[in-house]
Amino acid sequence: MTKEIILSGIQPTGKLHIGNYLGALKNFVELQKANDCYFFIADYHSITENYDSKTKPQQVIELAKDFLAAGLTPKKSVIFVQSHIPEHLELAWIFSCLVPISYLERMTQYKDKAARQKENINAGLFTYPVLQAADILIYKTTSVPVGQDQDQHLELTREIVRLFNNRFGQTFILPKTLHTPSPKIMSLLEPSKKMSKSLGEAHCLYLDDKPEIIRQKLAKAVTDTGDGKSQGAKNLLDLVEIFSPKKTFAKFSRDAKTGTLKYSELKQRLAEDIIQYFADFRQKKSQISDEQVKKILAIGTKQAKKIAEKTLAEVRKKIGIS
Ligand code: ADP
Ligand code: TRP
Repeated sequence: MTKEIILSGIQPTGKLHIGNYLGALKNFVELQKANDCYFFIADYHSITENYDSKTKPQQVIELAKDFLAAGLTPKKSVIFVQSHIPEHLELAWIFSCLVPISYLERMTQYKDKAARQKENINAGLFTYPVLQAADILIYKTTSVPVGQDQDQHLELTREIVRLFNNRFGQTFILPKTLHTPSPKIMSLLEPSKKMSKSLGEAHCLYLDDKPEIIRQKLAKAVTDTGDGKSQGAKNLLDLVEIFSPKKTFAKFSRDAKTGTLKYSELKQRLAEDIIQYFADFRQKKSQISDEQVKKILAIGTKQAKKIAEKTLAEVRKKIGIS
């Protein structure tokens, strides 16, 4: 079996919640065991949305600590910051001279974000998926683990591969999208929406929430009268299935079937199991210093840069710019 080249990025826009962990990071940790992996912090993507330049550097460090505390290791993965490899931007420019504007106008994430920040519809927000294609293709990636919300961006990346190869000869292969087995994790307070940091603190369980905060947030989660049929109840049962022992899940599922589910009992049990599940993560994260993070990122930069430079030299030659 040939080894896959796996790549994914997360934007440094705040603390990670259990949706980010189950939908993305947990899977990264598994994938690094048997593949060539690149995981990066997409800081240039994150400045397309309203942000604070004073807190951005610390957000990058915090996300790197999340990566490491969750189990990503520089021994198995190349871990780096996007802006440390400016070759991504150069390749993005080249791609932007190939992609018809009409392809970008179709992107639903662009439309959603533009509607959210009407006062700041910048050109970067529009060309965001072209930079994402460059992130992926510069390492000749074969598979990209992301949540469903990224499918359209991956499809555009494959369009760019076709456009480039048709015009300049076989250079890139078509990268596949890898979805996680985890279900979409829903908000605690509005369970019809996906858990997202844009909904606000109380909707999310963050990986570094203190035990008493986890208990409080779960206590307030929206449920029903005891039959487990509402979306909120289903979401909590899904979490029990992921975080609690099998027999706990079996008990609460039985209770739901007979309409006797006591949510206070389920929430207390689930809170303790989630606290336990992330105890090791919290402990590890608290022990990683900013200095250690910077050293690890510097190693990643060196490794990533070598490959990025090589791809870019090949591309420049093919497109007639040398
Ligand atoms: P958010 O919506 O909180 O801003 P991001 O867009 O930064 O999250 O997502 C980072 C990664 O986490 C992506 O790969 C995304 O698909 C995944 N992800 C985000 N929210 C969820 C969720 N509720 N359930 C599963 N995966 C998620
Ligand atoms: N757009 C992705 C998100 O919002 C982040 C990202 C940027 C990414 N570049 C990437 C993901 C390349 C996978 C591959 O979650």
